[in-house]
Amino acid sequence: MAEDFVVTPWEVQGEVDYNKLIKQFGTKPLTESIIKRIEKHTGELHYMLRRKIFFSHRDLDVLLNDYEKGKKFALYTGRGPSGNTHLGHIIPWIFTKWLQDKFDVPLYFQITDDEKFLCKPNLTLKQTHEMGYDNALELIALGFDHKKTFIIVDTDYSKTLYNNAIKVAKKVTASNARAVFGFTNETNIGMYLWPAMQAVPCFLPSILTGEKIRTLIPAAIDQDPYWRIARDVAPKLGYPKTAAIHNVFLPSLTGPRGKMSTSTNMESTIFTTDDEKTVRKKVMKYAFSGGKDTVEEHRKHGGNPDIDSSYQWLRFFEEDDKKLKKIYEDYKSGGLLSGELKQILVDKLNNFLAKHQKNKEKARDKLDKFLLKD
Ligand code: TRP
Repeated sequence: MAEDFVVTPWEVQGEVDYNKLIKQFGTKPLTESIIKRIEKHTGELHYMLRRKIFFSHRDLDVLLNDYEKGKKFALYTGRGPSGNTHLGHIIPWIFTKWLQDKFDVPLYFQITDDEKFLCKPNLTLKQTHEMGYDNALELIALGFDHKKTFIIVDTDYSKTLYNNAIKVAKKVTASNARAVFGFTNETNIGMYLWPAMQAVPCFLPSILTGEKIRTLIPAAIDQDPYWRIARDVAPKLGYPKTAAIHNVFLPSLTGPRGKMSTSTNMESTIFTTDDEKTVRKKVMKYAFSGGKDTVEEHRKHGGNPDIDSSYQWLRFFEEDDKKLKKIYEDYKSGGLLSGELKQILVDKLNNFLAKHQKNKEKARDKLDKFLLKD
């Protein structure tokens, strides 16, 4: 039977049923017991764990077994530079920063200017390369420590990537790549190599140190097909299988279907470069409301936070559980109006973005310290 939603690394459509996706992809749900195990080491839980924004994993239990025996691991995540960074992109990065701080581990961050050049017909390599460096500033702005954060801009680290990607590529057949990624005869051959390039950083900590160091990838679930390939080839190349922890998508402002994405709804996407007025305008105009049609009705019957985009977004950005709960209850009881709820979100986002934009400017001087070169 055809599913009513689609999730691939290039496309997310329909209302995603994340439980079904766990079954489809063959990942494991992030259970209370594994969350407790994380808490044992971190002392507290990030709100994205408490709220199940991270909801699924591969081999996180195995990674924790190793960690508890004293084995180190490394983090890996990344970004495909095809334009400005939007708020959906940085959700896993915020969580990654927390993991890095709590576990004191290195992070390898891949910026895939080559991938976006290959898969976006209208982008030149010069453009994706420039955007890649801009995206790097967005990461640094979140406060990562250059002593343990290594940024890879693919075309400037091509020797190491290529020399290892061919080892991966040799173990992956075209029919496998077609089955996993939906490649066809019309797909350019650069894309057939691409999954091998994205697999290399899974093994990079081992490649660079000569030790067997497992990686943990915090990323949105759409990237998981890559880890399936990487995990298949890992033992054949003598590396530990990479572990992953998956987040749900930041829903689009306009309603609960799909992820926020520039390819489908440009006007309602909130970019990290947006100024206060723009953020306000987008939220006021596009945020789907779970409120009633008139103030009287709303006061009487209350709104529905479960389908209200502003409330749903606050789950991703308001760290304080108590505040969030109060907003939920006030909205549901009708005490809080839709316009007021939107304003809470606007203030939260603008507050975050003002700091972020300042930090991004400061990041320019630090950029060099983060870059891996070969
Ligand atoms: N393919 C990813 C994108 O289009 C970029 C990427 C490369 C990535 N390596 C990653 C994302 C690891 C998450 C984790 O955005």
